[in-house]
Amino acid sequence: MAGPNPSPTEPPAPRGEPMDAVTVLVCSSCRREGDGPETPRPGSRLADAAGALAGALADPGVAVRRVACLGNCSRGLSAAVYRPGCWTYVFGGLDEASGGDLLAGARLFAAAADGFMPWRGRPEALKRGLIARVPPIDLLKDLP
Ligand code: FES
Repeated sequence: MAGPNPSPTEPPAPRGEPMDAVTVLVCSSCRREGDGPETPRPGSRLADAAGALAGALADPGVAVRRVACLGNCSRGLSAAVYRPGCWTYVFGGLDEASGGDLLAGARLFAAAADGFMPWRGRPEALKRGLIARVPPIDLLKDLP
């Protein structure tokens, strides 16, 4: 029997990567308009590919996680790239072969001293596929 649900205020259990790791959140539910009901969905295959690449890279500064939906369904495949204390980037228009681009962008972001994902060197799919960037919560106190 499973125990009680953890408190939403509890920190997540350690998963082997540093707490300041850049995390690629891939929507595993995404499918393109006109796609059939087949499973696994294209988003799930992208999540699998990105996860396999991350495993092969073995970069402790980059992690890949699956999420059920990023609210970008009509412009999938979708993923977000999160770095604690920094802006979060949401991407759409990806395809099943975009795992390498997501990992390249994540590694670029992880190395950025200013906390922004650099435009220069960013894979084309992450330039044309940028849907939104969301400020870090710490920035809210400085906004008008
Ligand atoms: S199903 Fe992928 S963003 Fe909603």
